[in-house]
Amino acid sequence: MSVAPERRVFVALDTDDLERARELAETLRGSVGGFKIGLQLFGRHGVEAVRRIAPYGEVFLDLKLHDIPNTVAGAAASIARLGVRWFTIHASGGVRMMRRAVEAAVEAAEAAGRPAPGALAVTILTSHDDDELSEIGLQGPCDRAVVRLAGLARSAETAGIVCSPLEIGSVRECFPDATLMVPGIRPAAASVGGDDQSRVATPAAAIAAGADLLVIGRPITRAADPRAAARAIAEELT
Ligand code: C5P
Repeated sequence: MSVAPERRVFVALDTDDLERARELAETLRGSVGGFKIGLQLFGRHGVEAVRRIAPYGEVFLDLKLHDIPNTVAGAAASIARLGVRWFTIHASGGVRMMRRAVEAAVEAAEAAGRPAPGALAVTILTSHDDDELSEIGLQGPCDRAVVRLAGLARSAETAGIVCSPLEIGSVRECFPDATLMVPGIRPAAASVGGDDQSRVATPAAAIAAGADLLVIGRPITRAADPRAAARAIAEELT
């Protein structure tokens, strides 16, 4: 994927304060590719959050859809009409569910005269360990389950996968043309108070390993100067 370095960065707006999120997005406009809106912000402000953030960059709507195919298709269509660039679905919903989501998004976007958003599949949440996987009845270990589910996402023709830095190599191998969106990024110089990320990589290491897009939250949003932090990351990537 050939893109300008700063366009690879999606900033996670993990807050329920829409005005704070909007201000951050305004500050970061042009220094990053876009913004990740997740359940916290969307749960509080709904589509208004997308409308307020979209003027400042591409929107990655991370709602991790998982339901019966018909319901997920309806949700994907609604999301496509919002004009977001990326959205997430759970690969464990199965090929049929993912395929319906992809098709519905394309159809709805076409009808609305917008470009279709890319569906990114979430495989195994990085919060799970092998014991938890077995407890919920999923065949492990985690690293093999990730590859299995990434293969399903490829069959369903999703645009790509969300994966941790440690999974980039194995996911790339089984889904070569996937767009890989990678969270768990920590710039070499960043130190985030009370950090809960353990499986991390620097932006440059993640891109060198095969990531296309990076999700970065606190190293930018909690920096004294978020714009300077974002610029420094883009610099690391050139
Ligand atoms: O602040 P930080 O850079 O850790 O934010 C990372 C973002 O990526 C958060 O929104 C988090 O929920 C998300 N994420 C993650 N690890 C995953 C999947 C998503 O950190 N495996």
